[in-house]
Amino acid sequence: DPELVAAGEKVFKKCKACHQVGEGAKNKTGPILNGIVGQAAGGVEGFKYSKALQAKADEGLVWTEDTLAAFLAKPKAFMKGTKMSFSGLRKEKDLAAITAYLASVDD
Ligand code: HEM
Repeated sequence: DPELVAAGEKVFKKCKACHQVGEGAKNKTGPILNGIVGQAAGGVEGFKYSKALQAKADEGLVWTEDTLAAFLAKPKAFMKGTKMSFSGLRKEKDLAAITAYLASVDD
């Protein structure tokens, strides 16, 4: 749905302080998010994750649209101890939009 993707690109402004996507993206405060939908958590090369995220990765967490929505709604509730300092997206519509946008950004 191109409209949802466009809405998600706007929501992504909230993420840009820490995350990059697209060609030439680099790890910043947070890891590159190219191709994140369908990817194993904690898998971005060269990024140093928290122990909390590493533990979830070791348990086999995969970023699907569902797990991403759960994480992004309330990062610190979904993953106690994460170093992602973001309060979360409260609106269902924003969560649907951001996951659609991230799914559109491949690696
Ligand atoms: C981790 C998405 C906002 C900093 C992650 C991960 C995702 C994500 C999917 C896990 C990546 C992986 O497993 O490889 C987003 C989205 C945001 C957002 C979509 C906006 C809605 C932010 C902001 C910051 C930030 C604003 C900085 C203030 C981080 C950090 C990590 C991370 C430091 C690593 C967490 C850890 O190791 O515990 N983010 N993020 N993120 N993000 Fe964000």
